[in-house]
Amino acid sequence: MPVITNIEDLRVLAEKRVPRMFYDYADSGSWTEGTYRANESDFHKIKLRQRVAVNMENRTTATRMVGIDTKMPVCIAPVGLTGMQHADGEMHAAMAAKKFGIPFTLSTMSICSIEDIAAHTQAPFWFQLYMMRDRDAMVRMIDRCKAANVSALVLTLDLQVIGQRHKDLKNGLTAPPRPTLANIINLMTKPRWCLGMAGTKRHTFGNLVGHVKAVTNMKSLASWTNEQFDPTLNWEDIAWVKKQWGGKLILKGIMDVEDAKLAVASGADAIVVSNHGGRQLDGAPSSIEALPAIVAAVGSQIEVWMDGGIRSGQDVLKAWALGAKGTMIGRAMVYGLGAMGEAGVTKALQIIHKELDVTMAFCGHTNIQNVDTNILLPGTFPKA
Ligand code: GLV
Repeated sequence: MPVITNIEDLRVLAEKRVPRMFYDYADSGSWTEGTYRANESDFHKIKLRQRVAVNMENRTTATRMVGIDTKMPVCIAPVGLTGMQHADGEMHAAMAAKKFGIPFTLSTMSICSIEDIAAHTQAPFWFQLYMMRDRDAMVRMIDRCKAANVSALVLTLDLQVIGQRHKDLKNGLTAPPRPTLANIINLMTKPRWCLGMAGTKRHTFGNLVGHVKAVTNMKSLASWTNEQFDPTLNWEDIAWVKKQWGGKLILKGIMDVEDAKLAVASGADAIVVSNHGGRQLDGAPSSIEALPAIVAAVGSQIEVWMDGGIRSGQDVLKAWALGAKGTMIGRAMVYGLGAMGEAGVTKALQIIHKELDVTMAFCGHTNIQNVDTNILLPGTFPKA
């Protein structure tokens, strides 16, 4: 067993253990993957100011996201097909998040259902919703969230149509995988994964199959989004969701100052500056590049969070310094899960927390609430 010291170690192990089509699904962006790569590489350009001879004892990274206590400004991002990275993946990730003390967000396109998470974690969690054409199905899903004690709804706004990810088409992505010769050969090299899957009945989209009318055997994510997601989504629909839900609402996928202002006007509780992990508009700026202008425009009126490219605690600290009151981690969680199940997600969270805590100390701070842009070297970070 290799010694795991960083998120990259978990990625390498996940690549070994997870069937090719699911590893590729998570570890890819749309078209040229330029935005996907920029999400990560733009963090590396930002430099931190080292301070010395400052008392570094008694540090805390604790904060609140939409009023909910969290051990660090990090929550688990919604990721489709998480239960294909590891058997019962969403349940394991939710448990790891709960034990660690950060919020977990379940994706509409998850394998484990809303009810599975409620039954297995007994903790309030967040649910990510897509705008579907079938409004009755949405009402039922929102009602299921209420019944499951979901404490915030994350409405994703940037996937009315789906960006092309070449590998998914080439791999013939489905959940579960079709029994083709190529898939069978690949699965034979993933005995751990197969054993886990043999021990669970959760093999397809648990929130949808059996819940949305006419969906009895849904396999392909791309065909589902093409048929079901509402390309006409507009701000009136967002107001409709807010009314149906009546609870905390987070709008995800904001990359433009004008949209951020409309989000504030909608009465949402938080926005997530996000390009969907570089999986939608290829050619969009990285999330960290887009963040400062949005914080400058609306940061005093609404909680601004970000996601995309976070692979370390240093990245979390840089996002916080640029005004993000929270971050979401998707791939870092997925790599941990694919590598080692719940223990791998816990490991990912421990790694990020330790990096965040110690880096904050090197920058001369003991309480994250006191950290701001002053920890960044002028000229190295994106401006508003
Ligand atoms: C769905 O959210 C995806 O990015 O695949």
